[in-house]
Amino acid sequence: MTDTRKILVTCALPYANGSLHLGHILEHIQTDIWVRFQKTRGHQTHFVCASDAHGTPIMLKAEELGLKPEAMVDAIRQEHIRDCSGFLVEFDNFHSTHSDENKTLAQLVYTQLEQAGCISKKTIEQLYDPQKQMFLPDRYVKGDCPSCGAQDQYGDNCEVCSSTYSPVELKNARSTVSDATPVLKQSEHYFFELGQFQSMLENWTKSGTLQEQMANKLGEWFADGLQAWDISRDSPYFGFNIPGTTDKFFYVWLDAPIGYMSSFKNLCDKQGINFDEFWSVDSNAELHHFIGKDIINFHGLFWPAMLEGAGYRKPTGVHAHGFLTVNGTKMSKSKGTFVKAQTYLEHLEPEFLRYYFAAKLTNRVDDLDLNLEDFAQRVNSDLVGKYVNIASRCAGFITKLFDGKLADEVLNPALLTEFENASDKIAGLYESRDYSKAIREIMALADKANQYIADEAPWVLAKEESSKQRAHQVCSDALNLFRILTIYLKPVLPALADKVSEFLNDELIWANINQRMLGHAIEKFKPLLQRLDIKHIEAMVEASKQNLAPQAAQEDNKTKNKATAKPAQNAEIEPIAAEIEFDDFAKLDLRIAKIISAEHVEGADKLLKIQVDLGLEQRQIFAGIKSAYQPQDLEGKLTVVVANLKPRKMRFGMSEGMILAAGPGGSELWILNPEDGAKPGMRVK
Ligand code: MSP
Ligand code: ZN
Repeated sequence: MTDTRKILVTCALPYANGSLHLGHILEHIQTDIWVRFQKTRGHQTHFVCASDAHGTPIMLKAEELGLKPEAMVDAIRQEHIRDCSGFLVEFDNFHSTHSDENKTLAQLVYTQLEQAGCISKKTIEQLYDPQKQMFLPDRYVKGDCPSCGAQDQYGDNCEVCSSTYSPVELKNARSTVSDATPVLKQSEHYFFELGQFQSMLENWTKSGTLQEQMANKLGEWFADGLQAWDISRDSPYFGFNIPGTTDKFFYVWLDAPIGYMSSFKNLCDKQGINFDEFWSVDSNAELHHFIGKDIINFHGLFWPAMLEGAGYRKPTGVHAHGFLTVNGTKMSKSKGTFVKAQTYLEHLEPEFLRYYFAAKLTNRVDDLDLNLEDFAQRVNSDLVGKYVNIASRCAGFITKLFDGKLADEVLNPALLTEFENASDKIAGLYESRDYSKAIREIMALADKANQYIADEAPWVLAKEESSKQRAHQVCSDALNLFRILTIYLKPVLPALADKVSEFLNDELIWANINQRMLGHAIEKFKPLLQRLDIKHIEAMVEASKQNLAPQAAQEDNKTKNKATAKPAQNAEIEPIAAEIEFDDFAKLDLRIAKIISAEHVEGADKLLKIQVDLGLEQRQIFAGIKSAYQPQDLEGKLTVVVANLKPRKMRFGMSEGMILAAGPGGSELWILNPEDGAKPGMRVK
């Protein structure tokens, strides 16, 4: 093994204004596998992340929820930590960019940049919402496209004719925050002089720190010449003040990557690690960032330039991955393929997904498809059919016939040596993040182990006293092979490896790969893994449809309906769903319900918890109608409920039915309100 390396690893800091979905989880799993691999190889490795807490979207989202941004960020940070740990992603620290450490470091980095002459000021003109009294980022301005006239286009590009423009050029522009007509207003902004770093960056991006695809992509920026980067935002803004000002704030992307440093600083303070050893300009530690391809310019240009300008070391590697698609297309809320981390975990084992992602991840930037059928098939055939099968076919004999002890000698040393010798190759593939190739190697070995068992047929050998000894040796060999495979799979399947560790009485340490188990006592074999039942995938997809219906409506609302404030009849009408049989309709038991009470649900953006009286009984129902109704306005109202919907366990409790509502979403959502005279419990026909 090489000398012990010092390695600091990060993955991108998720924005603290929404739940994690499987796309985020792809990145966390990719990074976690690499970290676990480095740790199992004995390197001093630290894995940090944090919530990205600042910026306009977070400020407005908190406002919409009636929360202080700090409180919202805290709650979502907790949720993210919980979701990641559900996927066995083991951070050494998960901090927040809204922290003391980050404030200190952001202001320090800025001051160092200023002293180095990298900061300039310039007055610029921008669209301003006179009603909301705030400058408007491009995404909060909509209007008619200056090129083709298409209505309702965003501030920077037209979805109809693809032209790009400045929001100032939009016709009939309006603020999506308040619907007011924006006006032009001047303000002084602070800029980071990125141009000073052009030649350094051109060399650095091509020096092997970035994948070739990404280096080429950034080439476009160099061709145009690097422009100064606007790093300030005016009040109101949720962020840190620029030193020496009271109404200027750091743009979120200035302090976000500094969050990598500050999360690590927080860890150093807790564990006595030497911070400077990792960040000083002459550091010999490694710094690796795992990110999605969409944020390469921040990590491949702005961030290394900031580090250089402020006198710190630059990253060793920036590793970008592609985007997750599901069943070949973009994750879709209506198809139920936009799956939240938590929804997945309610239905399926985390290690299934860890394995599937590993089996498909390369070190390139290509998008990765989660094909749900292939997922089930692959997990079952590789993990259950090949890998676990080795142990389950052999363990019973050792326990029943040989007193739980493995043979003293190896029967097939050549095979065992072949497995041991694969170590360097597999390690190299993990190191270069070519997990799919590593998995292919490991599964090819698993095939060989199964072939060996099939050829020797220990179940036949064990029947005759004369060949019983050979059965013992074959099964012992097989479990030695199984041990090696588990060591190789451990970065991907840590919980499974822990179970195997108990079963084999072995620590499964990579460096000890050659230490064969001879005359070694093992424990009784317990099933390691259930087959993946496709029903659970179907249930997850169903649950994702239900979970997200209200949210999808809400998000559409933010960009379309609320912005235009058009009456409901102008709102988009969804196409009519596929025809159903009368019998399907007859299955629905629709009842009049009286709303007894309604309340906010802590931690839920859209949901109200509602108690209804169905005449015969009372029920608790969660309904995603918070955007349209205050709880107190619902009490006493009559509405229509699907009374025979199977109760669903939601994060906040059981939901025993569904309240019917109509409308495109957001504030334009009406619960069905039967005429007076209807009584709770009456059937709706
Ligand atoms: N807050 C910034 C990152 C700041 S890093 C100093 C951000 N946050 S994010 O929540 O939008 O995204 C977090 C990470 O998830 C990014 O690396 C992003 O590329 C990744 N992904 C978000 N959606 C994804 C998919 N559908 N598929 C794969 N990765 C995706 O960007
Ligand atoms: Zn257009």
